Amino acid sequence: MNHQATPIIEVRNISKYFGSVIALSDVSMSVQTGEVLCLLGDNGAGKSTLIKILAGVHRPSEGHYLVAGEEVHFSSPRDALDRGIATVYQDLAMIPLMSIARNFFLGSEPTQGWGIFKRFDARQADRVAREEMTKMGIDIRNPSQAVGTLSGGERQSVAIARAVYFGAKVLILDEPTAALGVKQAGIVLRYIAQARSQGVGVIFITHNPHHAYAVGDRFTILKRGRTFGTFTKAELSRDEMVRLMSGADELDALSSELERFAQEDARGPKPELSAIEHRLAQSMDEEET
Ligand SMILES: Nc1ncnc2c1ncn2[C@@H]1O[C@H](COP(=O)(O)OP(=O)(O)OP(=O)(O)O)[C@@H](O)[C@H]1O
Ligand SMILES: [Mg+2]
Repeated sequence: MNHQATPIIEVRNISKYFGSVIALSDVSMSVQTGEVLCLLGDNGAGKSTLIKILAGVHRPSEGHYLVAGEEVHFSSPRDALDRGIATVYQDLAMIPLMSIARNFFLGSEPTQGWGIFKRFDARQADRVAREEMTKMGIDIRNPSQAVGTLSGGERQSVAIARAVYFGAKVLILDEPTAALGVKQAGIVLRYIAQARSQGVGVIFITHNPHHAYAVGDRFTILKRGRTFGTFTKAELSRDEMVRLMSGADELDALSSELERFAQEDARGPKPELSAIEHRLAQSMDEEET
């Protein structure tokens, strides 16, 4: 990977305000072709806001956005798509009752005939969908099978294969592995690696340090809307990343706080109890007399 090359995507000193909420503040980052950049950070850190700016959903309040070295001002997701920037969201834009092939071509259907005789070319769609999925190493039994019958991981894979087929230069994935089991997450991680080897620049958002470390080349860490920096794999060991992402420092602080509570509990209630016991004993004495 050549980091001297012009990044396929770059943001410089980006800020985003929602009224008085500062979602992003002075964030800079870049992605090269053929690399996986992981975007890491806690809930509310600004990850989704950042990728929505990249995907043309939001406009930045301040800062610059460059695609292949050229400044852009996207006014809709269509503008981003036209520049080859494809985004796969967690809640996929797929239609469960429609076939895999039909979903694969959603919005860009191959047609047969012309004018009022123009119709969806199902055979062609089936063939291409099956071929593309096979290229990515997934064997779909039947492309005319409804997408709703696929597992979550397989659905993510259809979405990624579709983006790559339609010439995505940048693939943005917002927590694609969050709801998946180990095996399905493995499938998605393999496609991410495959997209990279085809020269796609991938931005991968995850809360899972093991998923990030498995495919990530560089890691950008966001914290309350600011960048904590971007690290290469060589600069960040797996242990450090796990510690950083599990919030180990916060957990340490929490466990010592809980310990203190336990100690106070052990000391605290005794005198009161004995006061009650004392009073009880007294009243019993009084009853006896
Ligand atoms: N449309 C909006 N209007 C107002 N505030 C917003 C909007 N979108 C995001 N925010 C705020 O910006 C901050 C960053 O949110 P964002 O969704 O980018 O976080 P995130 O890193 O994706 O978190 P998560 O891991 O929970 O998905 C949050 O405080 C959020 O409440
Ligand atoms: Mg988010």
